[in-house]
Amino acid sequence: MVKFLLTEEFMVDIPEIDRQHQLLVELINSVVEGHRSGLSHQKLSTLIDAMVNHAIFHFGFEERLQELADYPFLKAHQKSHVQFAKRISEFQTRFNDGEDIVKYIDGLLFEWLTDHFKHDDADYVAAVKDFLAKHPNFIAENMGNKKGILGRLFG
Ligand SMILES: [Fe+2]
Repeated sequence: MVKFLLTEEFMVDIPEIDRQHQLLVELINSVVEGHRSGLSHQKLSTLIDAMVNHAIFHFGFEERLQELADYPFLKAHQKSHVQFAKRISEFQTRFNDGEDIVKYIDGLLFEWLTDHFKHDDADYVAAVKDFLAKHPNFIAENMGNKKGILGRLFG
């Protein structure tokens, strides 16, 4: 299993979005590593819940920004998010039903994510950057307090 790193080629150069992407990648990696190191089903389940919750929070955050920025392809982008949200919810359900599905996680999620970051997300950057330049306080006023989520889970 290959650990996915959010390297330069996947960054969108909007710090808050890159931070949220980084956290999503870290949560997925922590599920994979937790599985490998024999973490209990209960703890893995908690991590998977955190991964799903963060993904859904992040998608909503991105879509809100795109809407405010009048990004013309919001609908198509939302469809892509719905597809991913379905995939991870299904993953969560199958895990909770006792299926040994974590071993497939990198194939299931990272392929979609790399493609989404590089293409779909890259496409909205100009519009969102333009909006943020005109509304410099938006991030500070709307940022979810998601820092230190792993520390809160296992601290
Ligand atoms: Fe996105």
